[in-house]
Amino acid sequence: MECEKKPVRVGFCLTGSFCTFKTAIAAMERLKDSGYDIIPIMSHNAAFTDTRFGKAADHRERIKNICGRDIILTVTDAEPIGPRDMTDIMVVAPCTGNTLAKLAYSMTDGAAAMSVKSHLRGGKPVVIAVATNDALAGSFKNIGTLMNYRHYYFVPFAQDDCVRKPNSLVADLSRLEDTITAALCEKQIQPLLLR
Ligand SMILES: Cc1cc2nc3c(=O)[nH]c(=O)nc-3n(C[C@H](O)[C@H](O)[C@H](O)COP(=O)(O)O)c2cc1C
Repeated sequence: MECEKKPVRVGFCLTGSFCTFKTAIAAMERLKDSGYDIIPIMSHNAAFTDTRFGKAADHRERIKNICGRDIILTVTDAEPIGPRDMTDIMVVAPCTGNTLAKLAYSMTDGAAAMSVKSHLRGGKPVVIAVATNDALAGSFKNIGTLMNYRHYYFVPFAQDDCVRKPNSLVADLSRLEDTITAALCEKQIQPLLLR
């Protein structure tokens, strides 16, 4: 699209959907390989929780190596993002139900949510990649709220297991770069709802 100006500076927030980390980090690596400049950000839970999906320190090391810079991990380090005009677009991938709720209510008590707020100060786009088991239940209202806010765009998503997890939605991160390209032109990529 014509309004895309490369290299684009992408704030890339990871929040605590640990089963999605592998796909999200691979998507981050593809963006980097395509020439995007990536500022990595992690929520406290994402950065410091060891789970069966991997050790927190290993995830941090890998992300730091891909991006070639330190990860923003605190509210203090996230605050300058807007004032210093550090980002063209902010991605939250994966975005948990918890972070969806915080963003919908403008809460900024951690690095991820604060990064989004600080970036939004400049009226620039935010891309959300949902990954939560309660997307069609408790989080549905928050997804709807954010869809109705200016500057928010969503990576296309689908139900990932409608039999065993009927309320779960997961974004298709193979569509992340296309979503970013459209969002930089103030457009929501379509179709949003995948099967
Ligand atoms: C192993 C594991 C997997 C999780 N997967 C998800 C998930 O896919 N989606 C989600 O919304 N929360 C998930 N959670 C819960 C979040 O990590 C938890 O709500 C946390 O408070 C999120 O904080 P954050 O949004 O600040 O990262 C998971 C937790 C654990 C321990």
